Amino acid sequence: MAKIALTGIKPTGTPHIGNYLGMIKPALELAQSYRALYFIADYHALTTERDPKEMSRQIYEVAATWLALGLDPEKVVFFRQSDIPAVFELAWILACLASKGLLNRAHAYKAAVEDNIRQGRSADDSISAGLFNYPVLMAADILLFGTHLVPVGQDQKQHVEIARDIASSFNSYYGTVFRIPEALIRKDVMSVPGVDGRKMSKTYKNTIPIFADSKVIRQQVMRIITDSKPPEAPKNPEECNVFDLYRHFAPPEAAKLTRMRYLKGGVRYSDIKKELIELLLEKFGENRRTYETLLKDQRIIKHILERGAKTARSIANPVLTEVRRKVGINLT
Ligand code: TRP
Repeated sequence: MAKIALTGIKPTGTPHIGNYLGMIKPALELAQSYRALYFIADYHALTTERDPKEMSRQIYEVAATWLALGLDPEKVVFFRQSDIPAVFELAWILACLASKGLLNRAHAYKAAVEDNIRQGRSADDSISAGLFNYPVLMAADILLFGTHLVPVGQDQKQHVEIARDIASSFNSYYGTVFRIPEALIRKDVMSVPGVDGRKMSKTYKNTIPIFADSKVIRQQVMRIITDSKPPEAPKNPEECNVFDLYRHFAPPEAAKLTRMRYLKGGVRYSDIKKELIELLLEKFGENRRTYETLLKDQRIIKHILERGAKTARSIANPVLTEVRRKVGINLT
């Protein structure tokens, strides 16, 4: 049996090129050699998304994005976290084992506390118990499916460590049930630059959305910040935000030639931007049509997610039963 790779996708913000290169593409590649369980972490999103309309819109949007970009629901178990009740039951059990101190040290919670203190507010001001418990829910996601590998960005590394920690505590107290998961931290395209040169992120409002109107894509690419070197000056491609995106989408030969043109001099940034626009529109053209079709008739997405959830429950439920037995909750 192939090993299990599992990851959660938070439905927040319109998926952009940074998500594609940093997460979607590597996850789809990984699904070739692992039994992949990929799910929409909608209840994790509830820690920050309070607008019900936005919540459902983003769930559909993120599902449509992955499906349009090639996630094959016949091969990948693709589901919604909220469709698996066992996750939330396990989260409570794990919460009873996890030490509060461990959660006090989680980066996201710590950062929120530090921000409060800096602003002169009380330490836990506006911090929900959900945010505090976020790592426990994530541990439940991971442990419930016997996950071997968790592909995540650097920012989630600590969460996987917390899951390992909680799993070990449970195993040594009640006897071994959980597999200790490994994080797979993506390194190569970890920081795809946004149009302002900082990491592409919805927080910075510097993203290039994958399936935006071609007008928006054009606009965003033309906005990418470059230095003021004249066309004839030799340039370092490694220091150019345009090239940094371009190299991911250009055919290898073309990327090589363009790199040489940068070094020799004679490159006009606006020309490379135009090439990049064409590459993006061409690369995602067909996917865009699938994306639009999927969003038009939401029954398809609902059906796919329901089928995925059924499979996911059939993996999760026996594990939960075993956990309940171990803690003495299953009366027999
Ligand atoms: N916390 C992750 C993020 O912000 C999403 C997530 C939820 C996740 N549950 C998971 C990732 C389980 C990996 C495994 O992106």
